[in-house]
Amino acid sequence: MAEEMRIVLRNYGKINPLKIDDYIAQGGYKPYDKACNMDAFELIQEVKSANLRGRGGAGFNCGQKWQFAHQAQADQKYVVCNADEGEPGTYKDRMIMENDPHALLEGMAICGYAIGATKGYIYCRGEYPQVVTILNTAIDQAQEKGVFKNFDVEVRTGAGAYVCGEETALIESLEGNRGEPRYKPPYPPSEGLWGKPTIVNNVETFANIPIIVEKGGDWYASIGTPAYPGTKILTLTGDINNRTFFEVPTNTTLREVIYKYGGGIPGGKKFKAVQTGGTSGAFIPENLLDTPIAFDSMSEIGAVLGSGAVFVLDETRDIVDVACRISKFFEHESCGKCAPCREGTMRIYDLMTKINGGKGSKSDTALLNKLGRVMSYSCFCGLGQAAPAPVLSTIKHFQADYDAKLM
Ligand SMILES: Cc1cc2nc3c(=O)[nH]c(=O)nc-3n(C[C@H](O)[C@H](O)[C@H](O)COP(=O)(O)O)c2cc1C
Ligand code: SF4
Repeated sequence: MAEEMRIVLRNYGKINPLKIDDYIAQGGYKPYDKACNMDAFELIQEVKSANLRGRGGAGFNCGQKWQFAHQAQADQKYVVCNADEGEPGTYKDRMIMENDPHALLEGMAICGYAIGATKGYIYCRGEYPQVVTILNTAIDQAQEKGVFKNFDVEVRTGAGAYVCGEETALIESLEGNRGEPRYKPPYPPSEGLWGKPTIVNNVETFANIPIIVEKGGDWYASIGTPAYPGTKILTLTGDINNRTFFEVPTNTTLREVIYKYGGGIPGGKKFKAVQTGGTSGAFIPENLLDTPIAFDSMSEIGAVLGSGAVFVLDETRDIVDVACRISKFFEHESCGKCAPCREGTMRIYDLMTKINGGKGSKSDTALLNKLGRVMSYSCFCGLGQAAPAPVLSTIKHFQADYDAKLM
């Protein structure tokens, strides 16, 4: 197997995650001490110079976001870790939390110092009870050892709604309300949890922070592509020899991911398509596989890096059927707050069921294209905006598969 570059996962398998001393022996919590001896603004400049962009899907510049919260005036600020990990096929955050929970806690504590927050919450997926236990053990050990100077973290669990991964729905849920997205602006760095300035970052984003503080922003910025530097943890599922996870620089191409790291397609079968970024991502055909996985190069081909999930289909798969099942997922997960998504996801599923059942016509695919375009502009949050992408990408790149099913 091709060699990885483990930055976030550097302690994976090397430490006992339930022993803080193991983490400390690897140099853990030194970056936090270093950060606390820096001026908060300078610390943020260091994170900005790394050009670290959020690993939860939206790719926003992390240091920039921290600067907004740092500049906001308030009696209380919060650091929130998005550990909802609701995107099917994604488990990278679980790998980090299970194997190196202190890397996350340290990243959150550094953020707390940078923005002036003394309180942090980890919003963890309800389906991860074992992770909650590990996190709580790590938090207890950090507190007993007195590693946090003026910071305190609590774990809260979600109840299994995909939309609660959206940062404002997550905040609503943390406040004890129904998990529905809020109108933005104001954005959480100025008005977030209980109306106070709040940083919401993904687990992988936070876990990158200690090493950036340790080795410097310039070091980090030199890895991978300049516009989206560093590494990315990918989780590989579907028709692939190595159904596993690995961490690679962001200039790695999809072809390398599938054939070098993933070991290719099993059973001597041919490649058909790859869906990146989880269930809301587009399906990509063979001729686009030389695209680097970095955020912007993926956007250029109409795909997303998203959460880093990579789902491979071999030549025997019925891609129309797969897209139909995905549309069922979105119909189920739409929170119902806005009409374009509530009605749109249902109509996409109806049309896909019709086409998949051999009862559709060309006008149905044309209608899907139109509906999808309208949804991508008019839905209130990212869930509805992205919901049509898998279907539209299959219509675009795998027209022959649709034609074979149309009346
Ligand atoms: C429907 C939906 C689900 C999301 N789920 C997650 C999630 O599970 N984890 C995550 O970190 N971000 C998720 N996001 C993105 C968050 O809204 C937000 O951009 C992210 O937590 C910010 O952190 P980052 O800048 O470190 O990526 C989701 C967004 C949408 C629209
Ligand atoms: S787009 Fe969908 S998930 Fe988002 S607010 Fe509207 S109904 Fe809810």
